[in-house]
Amino acid sequence: MGLFGRRKTTIGLDIGSGLIKVAVIDHGKGEPELTKVAIAPLLADAIVEGEIMDPGIVADAIRAALSEAGIKGKNIVTAVGGRDVIIKKIQIDRMKEAQAREVIRWEAEQHVPFDMESVELDFQILDPDADDLQMNVLLVAAKRDLVENKIRLMHDADLDARVVDVDAFALHNAFEVNYPDAMMGVVGLVNIGHEVTNINILDDGVPLLTRDIALGTRRFREDLQRERGLSAEEADELLQGYDRSPHLDAVIESRGEEIAVGVERAAAFLASSTRSGSTMKAVYTSGGGSRVPGLTEALANRLRVRVEQANPLQRLNVRDGAFGSLVLDDVAPLLMLPIGLALRQVA
Ligand SMILES: Nc1ncnc2c1ncn2[C@@H]1O[C@H](COP(=O)(O)OP(=O)(O)OP(=O)(O)O)[C@@H](O)[C@H]1O
Ligand SMILES: [Mg+2]
Repeated sequence: MGLFGRRKTTIGLDIGSGLIKVAVIDHGKGEPELTKVAIAPLLADAIVEGEIMDPGIVADAIRAALSEAGIKGKNIVTAVGGRDVIIKKIQIDRMKEAQAREVIRWEAEQHVPFDMESVELDFQILDPDADDLQMNVLLVAAKRDLVENKIRLMHDADLDARVVDVDAFALHNAFEVNYPDAMMGVVGLVNIGHEVTNINILDDGVPLLTRDIALGTRRFREDLQRERGLSAEEADELLQGYDRSPHLDAVIESRGEEIAVGVERAAAFLASSTRSGSTMKAVYTSGGGSRVPGLTEALANRLRVRVEQANPLQRLNVRDGAFGSLVLDDVAPLLMLPIGLALRQVA
């Protein structure tokens, strides 16, 4: 290490449709340490179902979040996700990584329903040390537009995106650091956001399947307004509070069912496509929606499996003052994704 140290801080930037979330992690001292967190609301409809409708507003909000928290630096990691990102485990003839890089586009053509000309590909060999004739490869394909739009957005916000990661992998990263014991068997990660719920199914720690459902706290709020006659403020108060209520229970009954069905379908698809037949061991929830009082219990009752709200700070060191005026317990569940992004070390 040089006298002045290398730049060892990574800024994880999660651009959600409801909130922009930033987590800064210092990788310089052996164990990663969370040094700063920032959260800024985004105007309604600037991002709709993952699509950036108004880049100017989003860029302004990103700049505001960073400057308010006094975050400077260039090592930004952000991510893409949603329908235009496909993750798939495939088998190909065993070869060296460099060689695989040359043939992966051809291999991917048979597995990815996108036009190969307009796709960014990445992959990881899952069993590099095995000696079977075939090897398992986790293939990721993202529509190039999606990646280019993210990079352009970073540019508009005067930032330099070093890495464009994939939402599902970032969630997995944060999860792996905090719940190492859960990296065995089949486990579901359910990130319930403002507009979208991401479902990831891990098999022995490998994120084999990712699915999105268009459902989040925004829909919960709309239900509370329309069906229960609450104002938007009253609805938010319940959704972000700590107590169950008959209003919430009514809404959770139908929306919780939708989430449960999504998890079941994803798990069933995985079981049929891998023939593993193993049943899901546990489900971990995160995101703003995981805070809705009563939702975790409803999912557990419905899925008949252990459902737990995941805490991205379970095993992560946190520097004093990292949260500023934010209430740690309130916002921690929202930070799974940005912390997963910031856990990446950028050279
Ligand atoms: N302490 C809190 N502050 C603000 N919002 C909160 C808080 N706790 C829960 N919420 C709820 O969480 C929502 C945001 O959750 P989250 O940050 O996971 O979504 P997002 O990433 O913006 O959305 P998406 O991933 O769907 O694009 C808010 O809309 C609000 O309803
Ligand atoms: Mg989100």
